[in-house]
Amino acid sequence: MTDMRRFIERMPKAELHVHVEGTLEPEMKFDLARRNDIALPYRSAEEMRAAYDFDDLPSFLKMYYEGMGVLQAEQDFYDLTTAYLTKAHSQNVVYAEMFFDPQAHTTRGIDYDTVIRGIRRAQVDAQDRLGIRTQLIMCFLRDMSADSAMATLEQSLPYRDWLVGVGLDSDEKGNPPIKFKAVFDRARAEGYGLTMHCDVDQENSTRHIWQTLEDIGVDRIDHGVNSLEDEALCDEIVQRGLALTVCPISNKCITGSLKAVEIRRMLEKGMRATVNSDDPAYFLGYVQENLVATQKEADLSRDQVVRLAANAFEASWLPAEEQRGLLSRLESYVASEAGA
Ligand code: ADE
Ligand code: ZN
Repeated sequence: MTDMRRFIERMPKAELHVHVEGTLEPEMKFDLARRNDIALPYRSAEEMRAAYDFDDLPSFLKMYYEGMGVLQAEQDFYDLTTAYLTKAHSQNVVYAEMFFDPQAHTTRGIDYDTVIRGIRRAQVDAQDRLGIRTQLIMCFLRDMSADSAMATLEQSLPYRDWLVGVGLDSDEKGNPPIKFKAVFDRARAEGYGLTMHCDVDQENSTRHIWQTLEDIGVDRIDHGVNSLEDEALCDEIVQRGLALTVCPISNKCITGSLKAVEIRRMLEKGMRATVNSDDPAYFLGYVQENLVATQKEADLSRDQVVRLAANAFEASWLPAEEQRGLLSRLESYVASEAGA
């Protein structure tokens, strides 16, 4: 193992961009399909993985939505979340903010309550058992209507204390941030943190990123790599201190490039880039593999790797005192490794 890989592996890390449904590994799909008496169009987990051959966002999303059909009961959501948190813990992720897509389940007849209760129970148990701290972010599907998103926001209110924020995901083409302005205004009034996907190399990418700033007033941007095409946009992101949750292996699967050099440029410009896994079961890499691939391709220094990790703790939606605690864990780790 190289020194850098070992350094990254042992470093305390946070993950701010992971879709819990995107952590559904083929082996678990087969287990859940058996448990729920569902037929799958593949003979084995290997055959399923071999079919993960995406070349754009819609081709990935098709597989992602088909895959989650095996999630039916509260226990399924519990098992899914527990498996992700166990894996994340094994990579020294000490804090994770996870997305979930309630509309992808309620539209298939699964109750909102079933989904969120299973995820929540896994979060509480993982904190007790492993000490991993987590929070949950509800995403709206942007290729559904704003009315549907608003109804979903209302469904979330009885569970307000279990959610830290809202996001926006799914197919960006023809679904700009502004479509959801009223929903995000209402979410802000409810005290939710606000983030939105600005997926990589989409039609009107920079226009959409401007909208998240000027029309929505997001607290964070998911992906957002195309901001680098517009100097004024980068300046505005720096000035607002907004973090970007970049997902290199996801980028590679969807656009053909990790965008690792772009991550280095963001750091050099003082933009608060972070490295995340997005949908690790589909893109075949968790946060460790994402950091290692980025460091290697962009030839990042140890300080830059630590900056990526610190950015994630600083950009988290944790109370300031908890953020400080995690940052000092990172600092102690770096001090213990100095000269190593
Ligand atoms: N849903 C799950 N992963 C996503 C991604 N990378 N972009 C948009 N929607 C998603
Ligand atoms: Zn995502």
